[in-house]
Amino acid sequence: MGVVDDVQVSEAEIAVHWREEEYIQPPPALRAEANANDLAIRDRFSEDRFPECFVEYAEMLTWDRKWDTVLDTSQPPFWKWWVGGMLNACVNCVDRHLETRGDKNAIIWVPELEEDETQEITYSELHRRVNEFAALLRGFCGVKPQDRVTFQLPMVPELPVAMLACARLGVIHSEVFGGFSGTACGQRMGDARSTILVTIDGYYRNGQLIDHKVKADEAVEAARKEGVEVEKVLVFRRIPGEYHSGSPVVEGRDFFVDELLEQYRGQTVEPESMRAEDTLFLMYTSGTTGRPKGAQHSTGGYLSYVTGTSKYYQDIHPQDTYWCFADIGWITGHSYIVYGPLALGTTSVMYEGVPTYPDAGRPWRIAEKLGVRIFHTSPTTIRMLRKVGPDEPEKYDYHFKTMTTVGEPIEPDVFRWYWRVVGKGEAAITDTWWQTENGGFLGSTLPGLEKMKPGSCGPGALGIYPVIYDEEGKEVPAGSGRAGNICIRNPWPGAFLTVWGDPDRYVQTYYAKYNRNPKSTDWHDWPYFANDGAMQSADGYFRILGRVDDVINVAGHRLGTKELESASLTVDEVAEAAAVPVIDELRGRAVEMYVSLKPGHEPSAEMEQKVSKAIERDIGKIARPKNVWIVPDMPKTRSGKIMRRVIASISNFTDVGDVSTLANPEVVEGINEHVRSTKVARGDVPRKLSEAELEEIKAYGHVE
Ligand code: WTA
Repeated sequence: MGVVDDVQVSEAEIAVHWREEEYIQPPPALRAEANANDLAIRDRFSEDRFPECFVEYAEMLTWDRKWDTVLDTSQPPFWKWWVGGMLNACVNCVDRHLETRGDKNAIIWVPELEEDETQEITYSELHRRVNEFAALLRGFCGVKPQDRVTFQLPMVPELPVAMLACARLGVIHSEVFGGFSGTACGQRMGDARSTILVTIDGYYRNGQLIDHKVKADEAVEAARKEGVEVEKVLVFRRIPGEYHSGSPVVEGRDFFVDELLEQYRGQTVEPESMRAEDTLFLMYTSGTTGRPKGAQHSTGGYLSYVTGTSKYYQDIHPQDTYWCFADIGWITGHSYIVYGPLALGTTSVMYEGVPTYPDAGRPWRIAEKLGVRIFHTSPTTIRMLRKVGPDEPEKYDYHFKTMTTVGEPIEPDVFRWYWRVVGKGEAAITDTWWQTENGGFLGSTLPGLEKMKPGSCGPGALGIYPVIYDEEGKEVPAGSGRAGNICIRNPWPGAFLTVWGDPDRYVQTYYAKYNRNPKSTDWHDWPYFANDGAMQSADGYFRILGRVDDVINVAGHRLGTKELESASLTVDEVAEAAAVPVIDELRGRAVEMYVSLKPGHEPSAEMEQKVSKAIERDIGKIARPKNVWIVPDMPKTRSGKIMRRVIASISNFTDVGDVSTLANPEVVEGINEHVRSTKVARGDVPRKLSEAELEEIKAYGHVE
């Protein structure tokens, strides 16, 4: 584990010349009511007060036993926060609110069909449901603290109920995004050695009740291939008492939760007192190469961090109605629909369906009806709503005080529409940069205090000290106009503990690159490498350029190049496969696949379909490629590596650059001609790319 050497990297430094965007000031009215209403808060979290500054976050929680040590650095880079402290996450999100706010809504669930009734779940009701499900998990499944239970649930209230039930028992939950394939779910069960799956028969999407239970059968198969025998599949029913799936109920393995729950009505379960550093949940995410990684999140560190950031960055007050329009299947939903907002005792809105069902006014009707004051979503959703319903927001009488964007870079133009039209010029926007591994926000502006700059997330969040390094580990100064790799110099409580089952990968992926001394127990020697490119302007604000590793961010979903390629290679006829990102107006990036066939096979539309289907089966619909290009041969380096940069340029209509060093430069021309003429014929010519986008494509694949 040394500095840099064997890590393959993109171009060392990227020169980028942006126009500086104009600032937008926070609304004056917000400053008065905001939780963070005095810039002195920045001093409280200044670097010389680290790590004690975060005690403020820990004190927002209820502890069974207070910690002895704030930050333990004895086993770098496996940092431990609040060591000696004991707590239960479910108690913090549910029980402790019963006395003061038992009758207040914890969750308001909005089903997709507009004529269906909204479900209001008070804290008392949530407490009852969580306890009953916890009793079932313990009584019927026999789970013990730190066992793993996997869910593949869509946006239904049963999901937070199941999460909190696990948290109550000290059981580690691992939710797999509902839109992923059953196979993807089963592989994650295999990795986590998890033998219990919680699912649902179906749910509404675009007005259709879709069959979801079929995925459980695929998951069981896929887990078996990984050597894990799934013992129980607990099936919720979207419409109680009715079963809406074509998948058979397997005797002795599949059980309807509503039937089982009869035996557990009214039961309560003593919450387990957990150590702060015990694991609360796993969240799988795609990484540089190979299998998805299980980001392992802690109980005390994680919960304190999401609670503190929800308070200061989302500006949540208990009396607020807060709506994070994300999916709980992703980290954003875990941190900022469930754990953070509920720890603060607010009302968190959940919506089952798609933003534009039945029309693009839907989100604003929900906001108006429920009196939502805080709204949180992704650039992809914002782009979509802007495209299909640019005038919808003004038709509705809602008023946001803060709005958030997360998950991908947001174009300044889209940001301004969000601010002016969705926010009616009244709300502060926090553009929050962070990752699955981080637990909570790393970069953003304080909504009542700090000015916004479209396209930039802002400075490091409270107590977070980012820095940009070049490939040699030299600092790239603010205002230099150069980009590099954004790192966080210090540990923070929300950071994941490790990669489940693979501590070496944790060290290699995130810390080896910029570590100054592998033996050092001083955290200063261990900057966290985020794997994102970024630049810092003279005002200290960071602009995130996107991933420097082989990850394609489609609508805020991180898809691993390797996974896309492995899925394509399951098609018998395929010899080689390469995935590249294309700039997409709606989803930010889309995937295009290049494949070459084994001898004796001819390109055809059926073959393209087969590749597409394989990806959909192994990963999910969100990964479905925009195009599959069957090429006679891939452009390769002399050492036989596929030059993804070259095909990425072809797909994006940008300059392929110097190809003279390739082993087979002659293939480039033919591929270029074929792909571009087909795209032109399909009316699929990308717009002119911005400088940042050009640089991203040029750096893609980084085999030089
Ligand atoms: C990207 C989502 C620009 C980034 C919370 C990061 C962003 C990856 C932003 C993590 C933002 C996230 N501006 N880019 N505000 N937020 N990203 O793990 O490339 O699903 O590394 O976590 O999304 O995606 P993940």
